[in-house]
Amino acid sequence: MEKYFIYTYGCQMNVHETEKLAGILEDRGYMQASTPTDADVIVFNTCCIRESAEQKIIGNIGSIKPLKKAKKDLIVAVCGCMAQQKDMVDTLRKKFPFINIVFGANNIEFFGEYLDAYKSQKKFLNKVEQDKDYIENISGVSCVRDNSLYAYVNIMYGCNNFCTYCIVPYVRGREKSRTPESIYAEVKTLIKLGYKVITLLGQNVNSYGLDGNTNGVNFAKLLDNIAKFDGDFELRFMTSHPKDLSDEVIDVLASNPKISKTLHLPVQAGSNKILKEMNRSYTREKYLDLISRIREKIPEITLSTDIIVGFPGESDADYLETVDLIETVRYHNAFIFMYSKRKGTIAEKMENQVPLSIKRERIHKLLDIQHHISEELFNKMVGSTIRVLVDEECENEYTAKAQCGKVAKIKKTEPLSVGEFYNIKITDYKKGNLIGTITND
Ligand code: SAH
Ligand code: SF4
Ligand code: F3S
Repeated sequence: MEKYFIYTYGCQMNVHETEKLAGILEDRGYMQASTPTDADVIVFNTCCIRESAEQKIIGNIGSIKPLKKAKKDLIVAVCGCMAQQKDMVDTLRKKFPFINIVFGANNIEFFGEYLDAYKSQKKFLNKVEQDKDYIENISGVSCVRDNSLYAYVNIMYGCNNFCTYCIVPYVRGREKSRTPESIYAEVKTLIKLGYKVITLLGQNVNSYGLDGNTNGVNFAKLLDNIAKFDGDFELRFMTSHPKDLSDEVIDVLASNPKISKTLHLPVQAGSNKILKEMNRSYTREKYLDLISRIREKIPEITLSTDIIVGFPGESDADYLETVDLIETVRYHNAFIFMYSKRKGTIAEKMENQVPLSIKRERIHKLLDIQHHISEELFNKMVGSTIRVLVDEECENEYTAKAQCGKVAKIKKTEPLSVGEFYNIKITDYKKGNLIGTITND
């Protein structure tokens, strides 16, 4: 049997699309290889959100060269966001003449056909197009899921927001929503198959349906309808753009026990000047007001965010406003990045780019501040009772996940079932993990 190996980079969207690539390969009789050395087909499902991501991918593609020398029939394919960038096909070919197939983030559904065409013609093939019907086409593609408890479901593709630093709208194209019927059918199947945590995915889930493709169903309605499905499961979603997280969505979140009480709400920066330059369409005050409204209705909510330090023109005072915002909101978790110049974006051409040494200083300080806040918040959970999904049995303990994604360890005092939800009383917080015991409280 021929084997495949897929390298995956980037966000959950890419992780899920890799599951589709695997589905396409397995439909053609391939099986998964445990290492790239064993593979007959190697796919790089790429990301280009920051330069560091691209550099890592370039390094990894380069490392395949000896394998290709040793195995002449090895097929190497590169796909995803990085491949979708302007002029990237030529750049990749020049750098790595051994690549056989290149296709974009909007052409994943045709991978099987590209593979068949390459195998019969043995000629370099590239398809990097904005496929208008991508969402309908990809929905019908088989999927080999990476996990039997946690599942991603795409509800929309693309982004219309054009934050000035971001390349996603250029490589993923405009927003397009999947029909509610198709989403409901997939979620119902997953629940029947025993999946316990369903995460709805989109670059900005709050604008679901705004493209007029959903018969008037908006994100709040979609969420509410899915949360009312029968079965023992939890529902999550990401990412929410703060500019259009509506009160209706907050109410749905507050009133449905099946929706996890956790929200990823990227703020990016704490200074109004920088937020404006980033084209985020909200102010610091509006964002903080949103957080207050959420906490008023859902006091137990855990929040996480994304932050960029060193955006062009970010002064010390602007940076300190980000520090202040982080200390005001107190997120359980924050993903903090140094601004990275992306070709073709508006911020690329902005003057007063911040030197790397300052970006480094700012990220280190902020990571340290956030680390302390996270430690305090998780330590404060000691003594409380939370619901977790047990997802693995180890020798002396079970591991489980809290709604916010944090790992919880449960000592083996009684038999538990992997794939079941339990209430645990948190007794300790150690080395980044919650420690708990089963409780009937
Ligand atoms: N659609 C999501 C996030 C997509 S990208 C949203 O809008 O929230 C994930 C994160 O990468 C972003 O939230 C941002 O913090 C970061 N990011 C995007 N472009 C970047 C760049 N050019 N440099 C550094 N970080 C970037
Ligand atoms: Fe990028 Fe902004 Fe779109 Fe998120 S909302 S994908 S940060 S342009
Ligand atoms: Fe990267 Fe594309 Fe996701 S650029 S972050 S893989 S949408």
